[in-house]
Amino acid sequence: MRLACLTSGGDCPGLNAVIRAVVRTASNEFGDTVIGYEDGWEGLMDDRRRDLYDDASIDRILLRGGTILGTGRMHPDKFKAGLEQIKENLKDAEVDALIAIGGEGTLKGAKWLADNGIPVIGVPKTIDNDVNATDVTFGFDTAVSVAAEAIDRLHTTAESHNRILIVEVMGRHVGWIALNAGMAGGAHYTVIPEHPFDVADICKAMERRFQMGEKYGIVCVAEGALPKEGTMDFSEGEEDQFGHKTFNGIGQVIGDEIKSRTGYDVRTTVLGHIQRGGTPTAFDRILATRFGVHAARAAHNGETNKCVAVHGENIDLVPLEAAVGELKTVPQRRYQTAQALFG
Ligand code: F6P
Repeated sequence: MRLACLTSGGDCPGLNAVIRAVVRTASNEFGDTVIGYEDGWEGLMDDRRRDLYDDASIDRILLRGGTILGTGRMHPDKFKAGLEQIKENLKDAEVDALIAIGGEGTLKGAKWLADNGIPVIGVPKTIDNDVNATDVTFGFDTAVSVAAEAIDRLHTTAESHNRILIVEVMGRHVGWIALNAGMAGGAHYTVIPEHPFDVADICKAMERRFQMGEKYGIVCVAEGALPKEGTMDFSEGEEDQFGHKTFNGIGQVIGDEIKSRTGYDVRTTVLGHIQRGGTPTAFDRILATRFGVHAARAAHNGETNKCVAVHGENIDLVPLEAAVGELKTVPQRRYQTAQALFG
């Protein structure tokens, strides 16, 4: 058999571990060959493909961040318009099944291809951890580790200067990174998109710290966080060319507001793509590898139109449908646990 894989959407630590596991499993267990399309859907449409060999070069990519295939985003309308071209290219390359590695948008695209007769397996990835069908996505653990380490470092400089430091982390629609990094790094307040904030509460928590003699504070803010209606001026970002919401620097806005309300010295750090780059943690390498092994097996066994997912100890195959419904948001009870530590 011949399998194809591609990586699409924002990159994420662990993508190469999936590719390696797909290639090795396909070759070791079944004698199947694998090709890779470059730059996500774009490469599939333009027929930019290459053979992926089970050799030393594939073996070494386990540790490498990013994706050796390249990635990209595509507007859903352009993607849908390319269906016939995609079918033709896959036929021409004699591909029996396509493994699409990506986040919610990519999995939606994968489902749409499956609905249109193309055998597809989805592999969920995203540092945001917002894919509902799986307990966790690879990339998330690395992003949390990077953000937690940054918060660790911010403590000492904030304390030395008696400052409030705001750290803005990624999380377009959900606050998993902020929640976990804030908790691991001992942030004194955490703000997530699922729970609109009142900046007056943040100021109160910071003032209390100063009154108690802890003359500094760290506030961890998810980029998609929004103020409670009527509590603060803030204009939301527009949509970009791919239909994704853009951001207007909520970390800086919160910092400015705290400064003007309390008079404390406030600075903002935006971690941005640092959270997405570099070597995956051991946890992410293992999860990504397990996903890759199971995706190759599913593809070989014709269990297509499904998505790999982790539930407890097991890797399961779930319908692609289940992966593209609602996003996995932070439950209120998890935020309440974080709230117990604020101030
Ligand atoms: O979805 C993953 C993510 O890292 C989000 O947290 C972030 O908003 C977005 O991608 C940024 O992606 P890019 O800068 O590639 O458009």
